[in-house]
Parts: sequence; C-alpha cells; structure tokens
Amino acid sequence: MRIQLQVNTQDHELEITPGESLLSALRRLGFFGVKHGCETGECGACTVLLDGAPVNSCVYMAAQAEDHAITTIESVGQHPIQGWKETPGLSVLQKTFVESGAIQCGYCTPAMILASIELLEREPYPTEEDVRQALSGVLCRCTGYVKPVEAVLKAASILRGETTFEGQEGLPERGIDAGEFPGPSMPPFPESGGDTQLAVKTMPRVVVTPKAKDWQRVGKPEPKVDAVKLVQGKPAFAADMEKRGMLYAKVLHSQVAHARIKRIDASKARALQGVAAVLTWQDIPRVVYSTAGQSDPIPGPLDSFSLDKKVRFVGDRVAFVAAETEAIAEQALLLIDVEYEELPALLDPSEAMKPGAPILHDEPEFVNFADSDPKKNLAAEIRIDIGNVEQGFREADRIIEAEYEVPKVQQAHIEPHVVMTYWDEDDRLVIRTSTQVPFHARRILAPVFRLPIKRIRVIKPRIGGGFGGKQEVLIEDVAAHLTIATGRPVLYEYTREEEFTAARSRHPMRIRMKTGVKNDGTITANEMIALSDTGAYGCHGLTVTGNTGHKAMALYVGDGPYRQNPNIRFYADVVYTNTPPAGAYRGYGVPQGFWPVERHMEKIVRMMGFDPIEFRLKNALRVGELHPFSTSWSEGREPRPEIIETNGLEECVRQGMAIIGWEQKFGNSAWREVLGKPHLRRGVGVAMVMQGTAIPYLDMGGASIKMNDDGSFNLLAGATDLGTGSDTVLAQMAAEVLGIPVEDILVYSSDTDFTPFDVGAYASSTTYISGGAVARAAENVAEKIRKRAAKMFNEGIVDGAEPVEPDDVHLEDRKAQAPDGRSVTLAEIALNSLHHVDQEQIMGVASYVSPSSPPPFAAQFAEVTVDTETGQVVVDRLVMAVDSGVIVNPVTASGQIEGGMTQALGYAVCEEMVYDDLGRARERDLADYHIFQAHEMPKLETIFIETFEPSHPFGVKAVAEIPMDGVAPAVGNAILDACGADLHIIPATPERVWSALKRVK
Ligand code: FES
Ligand code: FES
Repeated sequence: MRIQLQVNTQDHELEITPGESLLSALRRLGFFGVKHGCETGECGACTVLLDGAPVNSCVYMAAQAEDHAITTIESVGQHPIQGWKETPGLSVLQKTFVESGAIQCGYCTPAMILASIELLEREPYPTEEDVRQALSGVLCRCTGYVKPVEAVLKAASILRGETTFEGQEGLPERGIDAGEFPGPSMPPFPESGGDTQLAVKTMPRVVVTPKAKDWQRVGKPEPKVDAVKLVQGKPAFAADMEKRGMLYAKVLHSQVAHARIKRIDASKARALQGVAAVLTWQDIPRVVYSTAGQSDPIPGPLDSFSLDKKVRFVGDRVAFVAAETEAIAEQALLLIDVEYEELPALLDPSEAMKPGAPILHDEPEFVNFADSDPKKNLAAEIRIDIGNVEQGFREADRIIEAEYEVPKVQQAHIEPHVVMTYWDEDDRLVIRTSTQVPFHARRILAPVFRLPIKRIRVIKPRIGGGFGGKQEVLIEDVAAHLTIATGRPVLYEYTREEEFTAARSRHPMRIRMKTGVKNDGTITANEMIALSDTGAYGCHGLTVTGNTGHKAMALYVGDGPYRQNPNIRFYADVVYTNTPPAGAYRGYGVPQGFWPVERHMEKIVRMMGFDPIEFRLKNALRVGELHPFSTSWSEGREPRPEIIETNGLEECVRQGMAIIGWEQKFGNSAWREVLGKPHLRRGVGVAMVMQGTAIPYLDMGGASIKMNDDGSFNLLAGATDLGTGSDTVLAQMAAEVLGIPVEDILVYSSDTDFTPFDVGAYASSTTYISGGAVARAAENVAEKIRKRAAKMFNEGIVDGAEPVEPDDVHLEDRKAQAPDGRSVTLAEIALNSLHHVDQEQIMGVASYVSPSSPPPFAAQFAEVTVDTETGQVVVDRLVMAVDSGVIVNPVTASGQIEGGMTQALGYAVCEEMVYDDLGRARERDLADYHIFQAHEMPKLETIFIETFEPSHPFGVKAVAEIPMDGVAPAVGNAILDACGADLHIIPATPERVWSALKRVK
C-alpha cells in the first residue's frame, strides 16, 4: 500500500506492507536518528514525537501515522558551522546534553532528547522527579541517567531565561587539594522548580595527584569528540547506511538444546519469491574456529563452526537466509525442514562433569587449548597454588567455609549486534560491523571465508554499547557468507530476542570459599574453588574464569609474614552445557569473584567480631608488594612478576566512609529503624575491589598522527570507542603533547584499512594501552614540529637573532614558542613543511605494549532499605571511591563509574537469565529482563582518588570495569547489616531475601 507521511513538516510518499512499523518506514526514508533496540516497545530507542507526544515507533504501524505530524531528531538543531550559511546551531537541550556528558554511546540520545522536548514544552519547571519520569521510557545502559537528568534540568533552567549557556568557559582548573570539589562543568544555575534539582551532579569529586597540576588538556572535562554528531542522531552506526540491492539476513535457530541434524531440506525456502540464498552446513566450508575476539593464539579451544551438523543449545544456528525484505526472510525460515536426532541435554555443569555424561563436542576438528578436555565436557581447567595453602590452614585459628552462586546475566547494550557486508569495487569483502575487536574479527574470519586477510576490510563505525558482548565475532560471518553466496550487500541485525537466546552473557558460577584466619585478624590462607558454566561453546571461558581468581583473590594476601608469602589457591573447572554460550561481559569474571570474596570477608568479620573496614585493610595488598598471581597465571600465557606501584585503597576507604556516613550508620541500631515503619530496616555495606589494566606483554595499541595545512591533526587509532569516550581521552592526550585544543584533533577509529592495529576495546585497556601509543605518536610529531620551528627561527623565517635548539621549543596555544619569546603558529609550520621549504609530511606513528597491568582499586558502599515482611530491597545510595590513576576526563570517567554501578546494581538485585527443563530461555525481551530505568535509580556518588601510575606517560590506570565489581557484595553486606539476612546468591530478589530472613528468625 502507498501512504503519505508528514515527517518534520515535509510530506513523504512511500510503499509499505500493511504490517510495517513506523520505525521501519522512517528508517527506509533515511531518518536514521530513529533507532532500533527491540521490537516490543520496551527500550524507547525508537521514540519519535507524534503530534508532539512521544511514541515507540517500533510498535506503531506506519499506516496509522498517516494523518499525524511526526517529529524526529533530524529536525532538532544543526551543527553550528555550516560554511557560509548561518545556522541556529544546536538546540539548548542538545547543548546541555553535550556539555553535561549525557552522551556515552549516544544510541539512546535522540530518543532522550525528543522525550525531553515533550517534557519541557509541557512543564517548563520540571523537578528531578519529573525529568526521571519523562526519561523512564528510554532505556540507557551506559550512563546511569545522572548526566542526562542534569542536562534536562540545565536546559529547563536556560530556557526559562534564568541563566545563559556558556559552554566550557569557567571550567575549574586542575590542582585541587585533596577533598575539594572541582566544581560543576557549567556555570551554576539557579535553584528552581523543585527541591531535588541539585541531587544530580555532573562532576565527580576528584582528589588530585600533584603531578597532574600543569596539564592543559589532560584532566579537563572536555566534551566528547563525537557528541555533536550523536546529539543530532547522525547516521553514525553500523545499520545507518543504505546499499543498493541490499538483502536482509535471518537465521534459523535451533529449538532443541542438543541434537544432530539428520536431514535438512531448504528447497521450499529457496523457491520462495524474494529469497536470494539459503545456506545450511552442507553449503559452506567446514572450518573450526573460536568466536572469542582475542589475540593470537586464542587462549581457548577451537570448537565453533559457522554452521554445524549438530546443535548444542536452544538458539544455536541451523541455517542462514538472505531475502529482499525481512518479512520474506522470516517467511523462508518457516519453510526450512529440519529433522533432528535429539540427544540428552546437559543443563547443569555438575551433571556435565559426571562420568558417562553425553559429550557436547565430539567433532574431530576440535582443537584443545591448555587443559581443555572435550571428553569430560571441560572447556578449561585451572589449578593455581600460591605458597603453601595447606600449611596456611594449619596455622589458622579458625577456618571458615561457605558456598556462593552468581547468575548468568546479559550485557543488554541498547544497539543490538548488527553488521553489513558487501564486496567493494576491488572485490574485497567489506564488513561494517558493531564490534569491539575489528582487527581480531578480520584475522579470525579470514580462514572461515577462505579469503586472505588482505582481501577483507573491517570498518567499525560508532557502537551503541558493547560491554564485552561485542568482543565476540558473533554475526559477521552470517552476513559475509550470504554476501559471498549472492554477491550482494547483506544486513544482519539481531532482534532483542536473539540477543537473549543467541548472543553471549556473563558466566554463571558456583564458588566455594575456604579461609583460614588468626584471632588477630590475619588471613593465613584463602581458597576459591569455582565451577563455571561456559554454555555450549568455550569462548572466553578460560580467561574470564581465570580472572575470577586472578583479580578477586589477589586483593587479600594476609598480614605480617603472609604479605611476602601469601597462601592462595584458585581452582576452576569451566564446563560445557547445552545452554547459550557465556562470553565477555564488562568486569570479565571479576564480579563473579568479588561476590563470594567480599561476602565471605563479611562472614568472617561477623563470626570473629572484627571491624569490617580494619579487617579488610589489614589484609589487603599494598604498594611495593608483588601481585600474588603475577608469577602464576597470565590469561593462558607466560606469567611474569609484577609489583604494585600505586594503590589508593586506604584513601578510597576514608573518602567513601565520609560520604556515606559510615561511622554514624554502621552498627547503629537506632539509625536502622525507619520512623513509623516498623517493617523497614536500613543498612550499610562495604566491599573493596581491584581490577587490572590491560593484559601485560600482550595488549598492543597503535596510533598515527598527521599534521594538516591549518595546524590541525588527524589522529588515526585502532582503538575502539564503544561509547566509553576513549576517542575523546585519546584526543586529550594528543592535544596535551601538541599544545593545542582538543577540537584541533580529528579522531578516526577504527578501520582495518586505515588505522594502525589495536587489540580492541576490552580489559579496560584503551586509555592505558592506546593512550600510551597516542602519547608516543604525538611526542614523535611534536619533535618534528620543534625541529622545524627551530629551523624557522634560525633561518630568519621568524624574525630574531638568537639560535634556538629544538629541545628549547615549547608547544602551547597552537604555537611553537622560542625561549626568547618569539613564536610561530602551528598553521605556519604546517604551511612551511607542506608547501614552502624542504617539504615533508609531519606525522608520527607509534605503538604501545605494557609490561604491567597496574590494578585500579576501589571502595564501594551501599545503603539499602529492606522490607522485612516481603523481602523487598530498595537500594537508596551507592558510593564509589576509586583509584584509577590520573583521570584524563572527569566527566567521561565518572560517566563510566555511574553506568557501571547501574549495571552492577542490576546484577545485585534483579538481573538473571533462567532456563526451563528443555533449555529454553525464560527471559526473551526487556520486559521480562528488567534493567534499571531513570526513575528507579538510587543516588550515585563517585569520588576519584588519583594516584600517578609511573608506567604510563599520563599516570593513568583503568576505570571502565571496576565499578562492576563491588556493588553486589556491598548491597549483600548492607542487607545483612539491615536485617541479618545472609545471602549467598544473587540477584537479591524478594523471595531470596525473605527466605534468608526466615533462616535468621
Ligand atoms: S525499538 Fe521501539 S521500544 Fe525498543
Ligand atoms: S548512552 Fe544511552 S544507551 Fe548508550
């Protein structure tokens, strides 16, 4: 049928099918600011205004919209610089979103802005509660909502005329004494419209390292370099592109958990009009590989095929279809006839380990890694003994044992996995994909397609969140096989249901802790035995589970002589089951470790009568000590000793205690009571945590910097910004070295044809590893600029007589400055080098690989209220004080902490993936799998305790993953403090808390 749609006051005519959604129609018209995040009206990414009211366009029929005025983000604001044409620039809301750091991946941003426009037109004086309600229909997995809420409140204030928008002027200078706030990133705006206005704060509290005081760009809350594009909803993501003749891919997923494919007949599907290709295992080469996006050699078994003659979980792949439309592709799936020989399904890892259990991987092509053993359904086995654990237990006054459990949970990035493939004009295969690991994807997939690496180009556009879920080579092969089969461009995008049934997740684990303690509070031995469920494939199984022990069990070494010779044991079995494979998820095994470690520490404290803070700090790892695991394990590679150079944990504890009011609340029975509500009890809890920063001697990042005619620079980095702001911090580091504003750095990342190699975005490594490469490349360029400037000074190109040495030239304010006060602009240097004298391209290339993985440390605190009649837990407040080294950008870094704490809060209280007896997923959409909405959030507070990590030019350590580690145990410990319920398993659902409460009574 033909319809007319009025979009942004313009009429458009288009042909639709009767059931086509408004989302699909708008994207076909080129309004790519309308995003797809689900199909069921839950995420809000597809929000448009219909006659001024927000609607979810994915569940609104295009035909229904015919007589209505539709507004999309494309009608809101413009880039302020449009050549000779004057433009109004960005709207006030867009500006406040940019300046407040409200944008991380930016995938939800157009929807948030449209929802906010409706709010501010309806209510010019919104309270914070009003804003949170208005944004509650738009899920954001990145920000924790702190900064979007503040952006809307600021915009409201400006629109009311109460203040003017002054951008970044008046920003606080660095060099603040410990304990001071650096102030807001915007001029203060008046309080109005409700008493909760100032509850949100864009800027974190920063206790600053003295070494950072003189920096001009590093340490400043610079706006994200991609924010202006994202705030306008520009077509920056993988699916925001049209290719003539493009086909749509769909995958037939298994409905049984374990079976051989006896027969598969795709003839009817192939005969369907509009179907371009149907591929089964019989149609493509049988190449075994690992989908884990890791460096060569992949530290795990090779156990996957693009398509196999066996299925191993409900959701496994059976066939690929490419068709002219999605609807035809879906229809074709129904016409594929499959006959299965069903096999017994193993859904529990302990069952899978029993002798005689059915074997998941009996294929002859299986390639072992280290101690994997497919005959025992073992994807990996880890046995680490540090010191003499049994001797340590003998020296203890008391041995405390308990078992803990953590669930399988989903990354739930709002942009689903999405890829587009096509042959370019040179017959090279182009893969435009939402990936964290473009270089790994190219290397891993080349043999799968029987193409040399050089015939493949992987382009990573903006990514709408990844959180580890896109550190997997998950769907690129589907589209590429279909492009190879048809010769045509193919788009494949997961539905939200596929995200839950066929994508990766966090490894669920059962963990047994055993700790020996002396009566003076010294830990003499600590043991963790983990049973990790990797699901049907072993991707990341060894390394994720290894990190569970490597990071979480490293924190407590004991005191006195045990500090030099700690006794630590970590054993783990990583087991195949017939469930969807687990994989990388932010934190990479460490949150699984800190739930048992920190709950167990609390158990010891309570049983032996210690102070929870003193006991932890007494036994915690300190500066100058050997990382206890560094000589025992390194992600399946050769371990090398590593000394802890920086550790701000004690200051983190001090600051965090002060903010949460620990002294007044902990153990205070009067404070626990809630006046007039005898069924409620309040409690506070703490957890101390550490992470790592990249993988030593392995993770490598590369960067190149090129000078342009006007003194600006192109920074090409292989690093992968998945919404974290890494492009921005890389630009800040380059700008710092070159003495220029960040706006003079044009960042491009990443494209395997153009940018240098980088392992990708994982292991919290980008700022540290890729930043190290950028700093070196910038130094390389700066040296060439200084040389040319000296030459210009000395040859009289710049007036003056004193000879100048290159080393004496200082770069600042877009100029090269001589000691005698003369200066030459970078633009003049660029023209001189490119056009006038001894012409050369000033550029630099560098790479960086670290010999260490300096751990960030943190203290995390939670305050909760428990309903003792229902078991309902409300988390009121989360405080995190973190030592992540020098903070390059306090706004983007605190955004990482807030977003990470919010994801971790879901892990603590509500997120869980459960399967029935046949291995079918219970959670298949964002209604059943609840992630926190804007109006449900507790108060979040971040404090950075800066240390200067000497192994990095700017003293940085990791920030992205550590907020995932301590929220769950801090909440668990706060529940215990509130009501005595001692939880061993998360999430802390009302049912579990209530059961635990019954055990108390
Ligand atoms: S895409 Fe419409 S609500 Fe998710
Ligand atoms: S910024 Fe909201 S989903 Fe990424």
